[in-house]
Amino acid sequence: MQKWKPDSWREKKILQQPEYRDLGKVKQVESELRRVPPVVFSREVGALYQQLADVSEGRAFLLQGGDCAESFAEFSADNIRDTFKVLMQMAVVLTFGASCPVVKVGRLAGQFAKPRSQGTERREDITLPTYRGDIINSNEFTEVAREPDPERMLAAYHQSVSTLNLVRAFAQGGLASLEQVHEWNLDFVRVTPQSEKYVHLAECIDESLAFMKACGITDENTVAIGETNFYTSHEALLLPYEEALTRRDSLMGDWYDGSAHMLWIGDRTRQPDGAHVEFMRGINNPIGIKAGTTTNSDECLHLLDILNPDNRPGRINLIVRMGSDEIEKYLPALIRSIQREGRNVVWSSDPMHGNTIKAANGYKTREIARVLQEVRRFFAIHRAEGSYAGGVHFEMTGQNVTECVGGSHCVTVENLADRYHTHCDPRLNASQSLDMAFLIAETLKDCRNDHCVRIDEPVTKTVVGLDSHSDAELVPEGDGL
Ligand code: PEP
Ligand code: CO
Repeated sequence: MQKWKPDSWREKKILQQPEYRDLGKVKQVESELRRVPPVVFSREVGALYQQLADVSEGRAFLLQGGDCAESFAEFSADNIRDTFKVLMQMAVVLTFGASCPVVKVGRLAGQFAKPRSQGTERREDITLPTYRGDIINSNEFTEVAREPDPERMLAAYHQSVSTLNLVRAFAQGGLASLEQVHEWNLDFVRVTPQSEKYVHLAECIDESLAFMKACGITDENTVAIGETNFYTSHEALLLPYEEALTRRDSLMGDWYDGSAHMLWIGDRTRQPDGAHVEFMRGINNPIGIKAGTTTNSDECLHLLDILNPDNRPGRINLIVRMGSDEIEKYLPALIRSIQREGRNVVWSSDPMHGNTIKAANGYKTREIARVLQEVRRFFAIHRAEGSYAGGVHFEMTGQNVTECVGGSHCVTVENLADRYHTHCDPRLNASQSLDMAFLIAETLKDCRNDHCVRIDEPVTKTVVGLDSHSDAELVPEGDGL
């Protein structure tokens, strides 16, 4: 294999990139980004690596979630706080329900660049470049807005730094303390059955904390009660940005991508001889690889040879996103080949990207019942194959949006227009995210208690008039609404 350098990807074929008009400006932005401090530090990356190694060995569980695409317009302390609170709620439900440490990774502080299924978008007789995320261009349908602008990389960097600054303060400055477990419940969730369940769980935690306090264990003498570790992640899509933030660790000499703790390779850019895989093989961050229905076992093993030649646990997270209808057809063979070859990976389920549909009224959405179904099947298949289902990966937000249909708040197709704010894919709102966490906690508990999860559990019909794919076609991410 050729020697790796932060820019060796430039000699390979690259997909899903913008066509910048002003290449001089791109160079200028890149050199500015090469001078700025990294968003994250290599030691934190090392700590996440270690925790993911625990997940791959079955001793912990990975919870990854956040926006499909962060945006400049929706950037606010309240939005960051609310998403953080929901992730904390999900984590505590999983930790308490399954008695298992949860590694928390946000899709935030850098999740700006989006792969698209079309390079251009046509409305009536106008064709413009497609929207590729706020780090590249703007969503409005005008020529000026859709022109890729390199300066946006700087704006995305600064937003990422401020986002992580706040998240760190939340994680270590009191909001993540278990004493705050009631605080995490957002107002608009309080009326749902999930909230009642949550309040009950929070009361149990209060009791446990009171008991521990009586024994002398408090947040003052035990860091794990008052603080948490929270990590960031995004798709490493826009390689000029990722390269410019890549730094060499001064002590060990290893290379790290300083834009996030964990990076992943998307379903559309995981060609073994492509630029994205070339870039990722040289950085020492944990790496996610999206695995879809087109991921065959040989290609997957080949990717692991390139990206994790030493088979280090914690290095690779296979993020399965096959869709609730297809997962039973494709996942078992993939698991068997990984097991046969003795590869160390964290398996996690992204039940969002294989279940995106277009509702009759044109909205891109996802049915909660199908999302749940895919998660259930993911766990059941792993169980049947004797492999550890180690995590979940969601597109979610703390905002009270109406983007996915179903759930205990019962969002209907007609409701979608009420608060449909996403810049890209439909996200779970806070109550739908809690639904998910309770289901997974129960499933994990079952697995730990050695009960079998049924593979063939029927999809509960939703009451929204979207109960089969015949009403709505499956759409890849990026199709216009
Ligand atoms: C995503 O995670 O937002 C995404 C685009 O996923 P995938 O590459 O799996 O389609
Ligand atoms: Co998405």
